[in-house]
Amino acid sequence: MSVTVFWVMLPRASLLASRLPPDITHDIARAALRFIRLPFACRDLERRVGRMTVRGPIGIAAGLDKDGSLMGFLDSMCPGFITVGTVLPYPRKGNPRPRLARYREALSMCNAMGLNTPGLGPVLARIARSRARAPIVLSIGGFNVGDFAYMARALRDFPKISAVEVNVSSPTYGNKWLNAADEAVTAVAKHLDLQIFLKVSHTMPPKLVARLMDEHGVGATAINTVPIAEPSLSTGRGGLSGVAVYPVMLRYVKALRAHTDGPIIAVGGVCSRGQAIEALRHADAVAVLTCITYFGPLALRNLTNAFSQ
Ligand SMILES: Cc1cc2nc3c(=O)[nH]c(=O)nc-3n(C[C@H](O)[C@H](O)[C@H](O)COP(=O)(O)O)c2cc1C
Repeated sequence: MSVTVFWVMLPRASLLASRLPPDITHDIARAALRFIRLPFACRDLERRVGRMTVRGPIGIAAGLDKDGSLMGFLDSMCPGFITVGTVLPYPRKGNPRPRLARYREALSMCNAMGLNTPGLGPVLARIARSRARAPIVLSIGGFNVGDFAYMARALRDFPKISAVEVNVSSPTYGNKWLNAADEAVTAVAKHLDLQIFLKVSHTMPPKLVARLMDEHGVGATAINTVPIAEPSLSTGRGGLSGVAVYPVMLRYVKALRAHTDGPIIAVGGVCSRGQAIEALRHADAVAVLTCITYFGPLALRNLTNAFSQ
């Protein structure tokens, strides 16, 4: 796509998308974005986040590219890293629609996707074929310890992943891992010799998470969505994301940093340069999702530009 066509089409596409039901916009966007590459020149803002080298401080959070089909498009946005997943060892349909609600004024949304995934095999096949330059973080999930152990074993000799994120905080689990995150991280850490992040919820005590980080030599991605009631969704409830959760995230990351020097990725509602700068005072990197669904690729570019002068 030429640079001129891109800048002319972008506002029109965004306006149209904002008038359609969120589940439909989501599907159309996913189908279109598989084939689009942006004409952005990426700046080199390399830094370390634990054992992982990222291309910049702002990356993409789990859930935007659940199956690895958007890596080419996302890579052309010049992210610091791309999180793919969450994947499970087996395919899962997720919850019935509607499973997305938008709160436009609050730049927030509520989702009850329900951990939909084609399963590990097809996602790894896409990652193997990918030519993305940004490091790939693979988010893995599980309903029991065996799920996590299976995936860790499958990833042991897989070269194209820079880090693994162990998702023990999806609202879909309920409170299953709230007091059992130790078991999940143990099952993964013993098989893998690369950077691991534990994706935690704001309900997991920061002191406990810091202990797990230090004991297992892993980092943390904080936080996941915040469970709320949402009657328009098929499930009647879902996970809140976007600017509304930013204060919850910041409080949590500050508390976690008070207990550990380990690598932290701050996720939750970052959508302005000021928020990114503030979050990075306590975290080693930031990841975003909801902001991109409102402002498109320009969101990431705008946030990243705060660090490139
Ligand atoms: C539609 C949607 C799907 C998501 N899917 C996942 C997921 O599969 N795994 C995960 O760990 N987090 C998932 N998340 C949570 C995000 O990774 C992130 O933690 C949360 O949205 C807060 O960041 P944000 O405010 O920048 O969106 C999802 C969020 C949204 C909005």
